[in-house]
Amino acid sequence: MAGGRSRHDEAVEPAADLLSPAGDELLELLGGEEISPDRALRLAEQLRGRYPADLVAAALTQQSLRVAGRAKFSRADEMYFTRAGLEQASSELTSEHSARRFAGRGLVADLCCGIGGNLTALARVAGHVLAVDADLRTLKLAMRNVVVNGAAGHVTPLCADVRDLALTGDFEIPVAGAGSWTRVEAVFIDPARRSGERRLRAGDSRPPLDWCFGLADQVGAVCIKAAPGLPHELVPADWEVEFVATGRNLKEALLWSPALATSSRRATILPAGQTMTAEPGEAVRVGAPGEYLLDPSPAVTRAGLVEDLARSVGAWKIDAMIAFLASDAAISTPFARTLRVLESMPWNERQVARRLRELGIGTADIRRRGLAGDVERIHHRLGLQGDGSATIVLTRRSGKPWSLICVPVDS
Ligand SMILES: C[S@@+](CC[C@H](N)C(=O)[O-])C[C@H]1O[C@@H](n2cnc3c(N)ncnc32)[C@H](O)[C@@H]1O
Repeated sequence: MAGGRSRHDEAVEPAADLLSPAGDELLELLGGEEISPDRALRLAEQLRGRYPADLVAAALTQQSLRVAGRAKFSRADEMYFTRAGLEQASSELTSEHSARRFAGRGLVADLCCGIGGNLTALARVAGHVLAVDADLRTLKLAMRNVVVNGAAGHVTPLCADVRDLALTGDFEIPVAGAGSWTRVEAVFIDPARRSGERRLRAGDSRPPLDWCFGLADQVGAVCIKAAPGLPHELVPADWEVEFVATGRNLKEALLWSPALATSSRRATILPAGQTMTAEPGEAVRVGAPGEYLLDPSPAVTRAGLVEDLARSVGAWKIDAMIAFLASDAAISTPFARTLRVLESMPWNERQVARRLRELGIGTADIRRRGLAGDVERIHHRLGLQGDGSATIVLTRRSGKPWSLICVPVDS
């Protein structure tokens, strides 16, 4: 293998023993069920006579990680995780989405591959993937996970610091139709966003984002997965920033180099993958709240596409600076939650509390945007009573504190 420094002599940590036949046997015995802490204690005592104590402990931990992993992976019960690896792994859904732009590429490098979330999806669409991670134990788990997910033949592991790789060199990897020495055609990198136990600030990573952007000087086609809270100004002007949400949950920012970019800013909503981009257009008017209020997806807000959304659905803004939109029609869009407005009034805590009592609202979810105040305390002081439920929006209308009592469109 050219192009990198390998570290196969690194010490194998205890959890790696789970990849042994005894580890397999133990995990099989645990049977894929969620294990309560009491049962875990009893099992640990029973099994310690037959297996080394550290292997039993590792298997019990692995079992609980697999249960947690179900939220991200359909085959979690057969996969292998470390706690940090699972926490940082991209889910199957988001990985499949980011891998799409790599379809048909020959050799793709997955730098900082972790336990293989993105790796598995890349291996399904690219000719071959070079999987690189500095942590040998994590890399071994990634390779096992690729096997579990049926993509094993398409991946070559390399334990190395990605900063030591010469990506412009040839790698001895058999890619169908390209001979045995192959160049990396595209790079996916998901740098670590924690250092040991410590979470790094949004925009900070290991390796740092600046270094990741520089990869495009070696291999034109690069995608960087970043925290969705990253400051926009860190991204070079000719790169695309795509904010990806699963339902209403903002998951990640994908930074696409010019060679892979398809727009400047994009918001994508999974699982269906509806996507919107910045379209030039006239400024959106600011007016009084209408019969409906649109609460844009955080992916739309982060991508700075609120006005684009307003233009596309014929809505208007209720304040020049605030990301709520108004409409007189019950708009159905994947890019916003639509609420029916029951009451729209200046924000006055006493008056709003009285109106809520009149409406019989006993349960409320308070959404605050552009207005100061402790939501929990306000909630408490409103003294809600009744069988009804509502969303109380505290915001600004043309610069003034404003409140809207709303319900979802179908209630
Ligand atoms: C965010 S995780 C990757 C998660 C992965 N994309 C997934 O879906 O499972 C980051 C990984 O980067 C690795 N890493 C951090 N710095 C590195 C470096 N300089 N060289 C190689 N790997 C590195 C860590 O060991 C960790 O496994």
